[in-house]
Amino acid sequence: MKFFVDTADVNEIRDLASTGLVDGVTTNPSLIAKSGRNFIEVIQEICELVDGPVSAEVAATDYEIMLEEGKKLAGLAPNVTIKVPLTPDGLKTCKALSDDGRKVNVTLCFSAGQAILAAKAGAAYISPFVGRLDDISSDGMSLIDDICAIYANYPEINTEVLVASIRSPNHVVEAAKMGADVCTLPPTVLRQLFTHPLTSAGLAAFLSDWAETGQQILDP
Ligand code: G3P
Repeated sequence: MKFFVDTADVNEIRDLASTGLVDGVTTNPSLIAKSGRNFIEVIQEICELVDGPVSAEVAATDYEIMLEEGKKLAGLAPNVTIKVPLTPDGLKTCKALSDDGRKVNVTLCFSAGQAILAAKAGAAYISPFVGRLDDISSDGMSLIDDICAIYANYPEINTEVLVASIRSPNHVVEAAKMGADVCTLPPTVLRQLFTHPLTSAGLAAFLSDWAETGQQILDP
């Protein structure tokens, strides 16, 4: 399973990328607004920090302008993935850009039917939002299960399931069990994945016992 980080905070991305465990980055207009920074500059900086795909989202809602925005974003760096919303114009843009050899991430997916359309439009990634479905008392992870099962029925589908709107490590574990291709993680959730109270307690005990031996592994 690939891990993307879902943030436009360049310092967070730099820190998390240093773990060697980050395969890509996703951004959206809300995350750009939260960063308080210039969109184009942020995407260029992120693309220099991370070798993998970096999703940059169009802001227009009509096909012609979305297409122009998508082409501009794709020109910023070779690893830009163009993100478009799951609307008729968004999927038309996805089809045009995909036919032109560009990678497109179709976002704001909330149903299996929408995911089928995105695959038909040639999307490189489909982004179902699990947390936002949970927020309205629907079952986000059952949507992931459905999409993975449907895509598996059609070997010609190359669209990767990119689980978005993740709220906790449990979402990641469930997505991995279902065979989802990618999870895009808020930095806090990626950090939570590392932690377990028994790991912390066990390490503290090992360090204490080791100190009592008076030994050192490296020569002083
Ligand atoms: O980037 C898309 C998605 O991950 C947003 O998540 O937390 O705003 O529902 P959230």
